Amino acid sequence: MVAVSGTTGEGWSSRSAFILAAIGAAVGLGNIWRFPTLAGESGGGAFVIFYIGCVFLLGLPLVLSEIFIGRVGQTDAVGSIRRVAAQSQASPAWSFFGGVGAIAAFLILSFYSVVAGWVLYYVGVMGGDLLQAIGDGEPFRGALAGESKEMVQGRMGDLFASPGLLLAMHLVFMGATLFIVARGVHAGIEKAATVLMPMFFVLLLGITIYGAIVGDMGETIAFLFTPDWSKLTPTVMNSALGQALFSLSLGVAGLITYGSYIKEGSGLGPTSAMIAIADTSVALIAGLMIFPIVFAVGLDPAAGPTLVFQSLPFAFQSMPAGALIGFLFFLLILVAAITSSISLLEVPTAYGIGEKGWSRGKSAAIFGGGAFVIGIACLLGYNVWSDVRPLSFWPLFADADILDTIDGFTGKIMLPLGALLTSIFVGWKADRNLIRTTTGLSPWAFGLWRFLIAWLCPIAVTIILVTGLFPSLL
Ligand code: PFF
Repeated sequence: MVAVSGTTGEGWSSRSAFILAAIGAAVGLGNIWRFPTLAGESGGGAFVIFYIGCVFLLGLPLVLSEIFIGRVGQTDAVGSIRRVAAQSQASPAWSFFGGVGAIAAFLILSFYSVVAGWVLYYVGVMGGDLLQAIGDGEPFRGALAGESKEMVQGRMGDLFASPGLLLAMHLVFMGATLFIVARGVHAGIEKAATVLMPMFFVLLLGITIYGAIVGDMGETIAFLFTPDWSKLTPTVMNSALGQALFSLSLGVAGLITYGSYIKEGSGLGPTSAMIAIADTSVALIAGLMIFPIVFAVGLDPAAGPTLVFQSLPFAFQSMPAGALIGFLFFLLILVAAITSSISLLEVPTAYGIGEKGWSRGKSAAIFGGGAFVIGIACLLGYNVWSDVRPLSFWPLFADADILDTIDGFTGKIMLPLGALLTSIFVGWKADRNLIRTTTGLSPWAFGLWRFLIAWLCPIAVTIILVTGLFPSLL
């Protein structure tokens, strides 16, 4: 079946192509880097269980809502919301939240590419080390042989101290993202997802099996799935809710945009469920992949954001075939990151095409170039501008460097705001018959979905938003 449509005239070549691309968008640094970091810092089990609840009670109804808007609208997020509003006798002013989403996606892209650049650097370091090991006739030795723990962990500091290196990595990653998006939905985004996602799953399963063999799976399962409810503080709940939105790419109109390239109308419920299940499974498997290795070497699971970049390379040093696995591990994260970054760039790009009438190449270049420039400020924040605190007047961001400020502002404010407006719009304003016929939900599924989107989501997301803005309330 060939599905085409939209003002841009573009579309997915099949339903499975859409699902793969949407899973590619959802599965990213959020799953492999942020989820294990948060689970580790938040004490494991209780966080993980609460997170799963957030995904299915809040995330899934929102996934369906965004895809519904895109499917009806058949154009960029702003135009799509406007069309749903027109068919529902709602004010066209609602379309502004599509614009908020596009700005959020653009801002997230700017620092996402910088972090993906770190991953790219580690692919290079580990790849070089693997070649060295092969050259020495010991392809199955540990990673970074002969380096002290300080040297292994110091590599991240060396990278951060070098604006040139950070910039080069950021440039390559953003360039690749721009290249794929400029090629279009079918020849760019879909092609990338169909090539990269199978590769991602093979790597994920392979490294998880490796971790289960050489690492400590028993301790990992106990850590990830035994809840200690006393650890479920309001702060932990807030971060689990925020992580569920980020991981499913919600609140930035990403799924509105991807949904606008779908032609067939029914069966959106199972499609949404597949996206949520796949994304959550990958996050859990990433935990099952990373923690056995962390525990085997006696490292601290609560190491924070450096867990993946400093703790794991050290762990790979003493593991059999660590040089090979270390390289594949960072390659896996890179693959996950690029299928997400293309979705981040696609949101504003579609806006430029649909609302401004720009060509795809021009729109992608303008937004990709703009995000690249903001990303430069983020990476300079680690060295030459290390004392810059952009929102120092605002207590919430007083201590945040440039990257953390943009991350915090988008994650704590823009993303929940986008999700809140989506839930109110779809839950209260959009025409119910239009939703029923477009999504193909059965009556009971529709009733359940409506309860979640109209009541639970607005309340829960308002809580994230308010407590995110005023942490002293927690
Ligand atoms: N879901 C991505 C991740 O977990 O890494 C991040 C992301 C991608 C957020 C695309 C928003 C988006 F539109």
